Amino acid sequence: VPPVASLKSVAPFPVGAAVSINLLKTRPAYRQLMATEYNSITAENAMKFGALHPSATTYNWVDADYLVDFAQQNSMRVHGHTLLWYNSLPGWVTSFQGDSAAWENLMKTHIQTVVTHFRGKVQAWDVVNEAIDDSGNLRTANVWRQHLGDQYIDRAFRYAHAADPAALLFYNDYGHEYSTARRTGILALVNGLKNRGVPIHGVGLQMHTSSNITDARIAEAITSAAATGLKVHVAELDISMNPGRSASATFTPALAAAQKVKYKALAQTFKALPAAQRYGITTWNVADADTWKRNDCSCPEWPLPFDDNYQRKPAYDGLVEGLQ
Ligand code: G3I
Repeated sequence: VPPVASLKSVAPFPVGAAVSINLLKTRPAYRQLMATEYNSITAENAMKFGALHPSATTYNWVDADYLVDFAQQNSMRVHGHTLLWYNSLPGWVTSFQGDSAAWENLMKTHIQTVVTHFRGKVQAWDVVNEAIDDSGNLRTANVWRQHLGDQYIDRAFRYAHAADPAALLFYNDYGHEYSTARRTGILALVNGLKNRGVPIHGVGLQMHTSSNITDARIAEAITSAAATGLKVHVAELDISMNPGRSASATFTPALAAAQKVKYKALAQTFKALPAAQRYGITTWNVADADTWKRNDCSCPEWPLPFDDNYQRKPAYDGLVEGLQ
């Protein structure tokens, strides 16, 4: 079988990756893959609250604008991640003193300043990220909910929509494929937003998944998200092949082959969705060399379609077979 030109050349919907700005600037092989393989791009970190809004009166657009320029030069869609998350907040927000009106103003100002800055350049936003806990309820350890109440999510979407009515707005969360409680809570939240007429257009399934989650569970996660009628984004895909976090694990040919099967199954399931609901599949970074998972587990990990030398792995071929 001759090699394909790229992921984007075989997929009937956008295929993306999360990007590190530093790597984009400093590693030619990485930059080359981003430009040639993908037609969608997400900032791994550069559009988070703390990165864009480091102090109350300062916005720092440098890295995010660099990403947008790169995307425009290469005809890529930009997926914005993320306007409102309980994590990765700057100190000035976590220590902010103010009544609920002051918090409301803080939230609204951040959302609308960011969405307005990127209007016409960022086509979609993860408006709210990870609001649900492991029981399927709204997370309590979340400054936004603590100061603004449960309805902060509705208002965040309305503020974003007012700033850019053309942007597609997503709710993004994890665990759909391994926890029925999480999935049920997430989809109840999303359906509630929809039923109240809140401007929401899509559901992001992060899909930081692993070899011990069955393909059937992953398929169930994708099809139940699609049952909302909204667009579906597999938003942060990576497949851990060392879920036991063994310090001495090695990436054997058998593991590479098993990973290929999982990437293929996921891509096939996604491809089977109605075309209008296929927002796309985005992997969380590009190559094993740069995966967040290695920091997270302090263990060997190889969760992505490219290896430590930015070469295609069997996982890449699985993705291609599923997309074709
Ligand atoms: O910016 C500092 C840098 O100045 C310093 O030199 C370096 C030293 O380690 O740390 C840098 O910040 C780190 C940042 O990544 C950039 O590398 C943070 O400590 C670290 O917490 C941060 O981790 C990111 C994490 O989100 C938290 O924001 C990961 O890269 C990123 O992959 C991860 O992505 C999340 C999604 O946004 C949401 N879903 C889960 C996913 C994985 O956790």
